[in-house]
Amino acid sequence: MFSSLLLSLISLSVVVAATPSAPTVTLTARKGSTLRPRRGLARPVSEPLLDQFNGTDLQWFGNISFGTPPQTFGVVFDTGSFDAEIPGIQCGASCVNQHQFNFTASSTFVNLNKTGEIDFATGGGDFESLQVLEVNDTMTLLGIATPDTTFFLITNQTAGFFNDPYDGIVGMGFQPEGGIFPAMRKAGLPALFSMFLTPHTVGNAELTLGGVDDSKLNGKEPVFSSILPPTDQTNFWSLGTSHIQVNNGSVAQDLFEGLQMVFDSGTSNIVMPTNLTVAMYALISPDIKPFGKLGAFGFPCDKIDTLPAVITFTFPSTTGAPFNLTIPSEELNVGPLLEDPSTCQTLINALDEGVGIIGGSLLKHYYSIWDVDNARMGFVANGF
Ligand SMILES: *[C@@H]1O[C@H](CO)[C@@H](O)[C@H](O)[C@H]1NC(C)=O
Ligand SMILES: *[C@@H]1O[C@H](CO)[C@@H](O)[C@H](O)[C@H]1NC(C)=O
Ligand SMILES: *[C@@H]1O[C@H](CO)[C@@H](O)[C@H](O)[C@H]1NC(C)=O
Ligand SMILES: *[C@@H]1O[C@H](CO)[C@@H](O)[C@H](O)[C@H]1NC(C)=O
Ligand SMILES: *[C@@H]1O[C@H](CO)[C@@H](O)[C@H](O)[C@H]1NC(C)=O
Ligand SMILES: *[C@@H]1O[C@H](CO)[C@@H](O)[C@H](O)[C@H]1NC(C)=O
Ligand SMILES: *[C@@H]1O[C@H](CO)[C@@H](O)[C@H](O)[C@H]1NC(C)=O
Ligand SMILES: *[C@@H]1O[C@H](CO)[C@@H](O)[C@H](O)[C@H]1NC(C)=O
Ligand SMILES: *[C@@H]1O[C@H](CO)[C@@H](O)[C@H](O)[C@H]1NC(C)=O
Repeated sequence: MFSSLLLSLISLSVVVAATPSAPTVTLTARKGSTLRPRRGLARPVSEPLLDQFNGTDLQWFGNISFGTPPQTFGVVFDTGSFDAEIPGIQCGASCVNQHQFNFTASSTFVNLNKTGEIDFATGGGDFESLQVLEVNDTMTLLGIATPDTTFFLITNQTAGFFNDPYDGIVGMGFQPEGGIFPAMRKAGLPALFSMFLTPHTVGNAELTLGGVDDSKLNGKEPVFSSILPPTDQTNFWSLGTSHIQVNNGSVAQDLFEGLQMVFDSGTSNIVMPTNLTVAMYALISPDIKPFGKLGAFGFPCDKIDTLPAVITFTFPSTTGAPFNLTIPSEELNVGPLLEDPSTCQTLINALDEGVGIIGGSLLKHYYSIWDVDNARMGFVANGF
């Protein structure tokens, strides 16, 4: 059993008092594949990711280090945010289950002396929060070191984070001149990463920097889609959908026209505006009902596993032909609600933030390629 509260850790709605706003970028969609580095360039590098599983797949996390000499942390690589947050030794008791960064032990540490609060919406206006201190130090991922990375040391946190099996979060949001991407180019790699986020039963999840892991592609070529140009509000990994099919029905176009669908590896399930959520559920069953005030919906557990709930989003590809990304029926059930164990939470959470968020429920069925230099995303069906 698990509470609905943290099932969708929506990293999108991060509110940071102390960070500068995200840089504005100009997209230059270049022709030609940068999937495999040209001859003479460095080779892609991979590391395993672990699945936080508690009845349902919640988050995938892997190692990264900060400081000199490096101190290692397990983090969620979150495509829906831009900053990094890890516990500092200042956090003490409330971070006792996590590794804590010892700044006095790092020769490259710089305290920027700015404090702030980062809030994570968990639906329905509730949130979890981190107290943070803004600092600079070297960040090293898979041997690629980014000196003077600005990040946040967690100095206190609310209870929702206490039992996480990972220490923090590293933003992998779309920022051509930020994050790890400039250091990747300097290391001779294209600014591109790939994710193999698998269900608990499959395992072997993996993050690759600078290319794709051919062994995960089942011999198939990825299909690519250009991400939407950034707006004043967002420069996320987002695509515009041209059709949403749920079982045998099409969702009315006006409910998603112009809506950015943000691909967010830090969100477990799916989050849509309320009116779109209601329309999608209506094509599955009239008995899927709102549950509580968290934007959650539920359905009787004893009947949920036989309910057809195939959701297909259609996107334009870079070649012009449309392609589909499909969430199979077994993703509908995200587990019993803590408040009523006979009711199981269903995968779409309603939240009116002006975007749709597509998280783990879909990403675990596709090998995903996040190509910063060409401002596009690529997908290959995993076949599970
Ligand atoms: C799984 O979820 C339950 C209910 O929320 C919680 O009490 C338990 O600590 C969680 N287990 C792990 C390993 O996180
Ligand atoms: C992360 O590093 C630790 C050692 O620092 C290791 O025990 C652990 O297995 C690593 N985690 C992953 C997911 O590789
Ligand atoms: C932090 O590192 C310093 C220097 O290596 C050491 O003296 C101190 O005990 C460490 N503090 C903690 C809390 O680990
Ligand atoms: C932060 O404060 C400390 C102590 O007052 C000071 O030594 C350091 O230079 C400050 N850092 C910055 C970046 O201003
Ligand atoms: C902190 O790092 C940023 C780049 O991430 C750099 O622009 C800034 O000068 C650094 N600040 C200090 C005090 O080292
Ligand atoms: C952390 O936050 C809790 C709850 O707000 C508070 O009771 C506690 O004193 C804080 N701890 C520190 C070290 O600031
Ligand atoms: C979809 O339509 C086909 C053919 O009419 C029908 O056999 C099938 O049961 C329908 N599926 C759902 C989930 O409604
Ligand atoms: C759906 O709800 C949003 C508010 O979240 C509103 O802006 C939009 O106009 C609604 N769409 C339709 C077709 O009613
Ligand atoms: C995408 O899905 C829709 C709805 O299920 C279907 O009509 C269409 O043929 C599919 N397109 C492709 C390219 O598979």
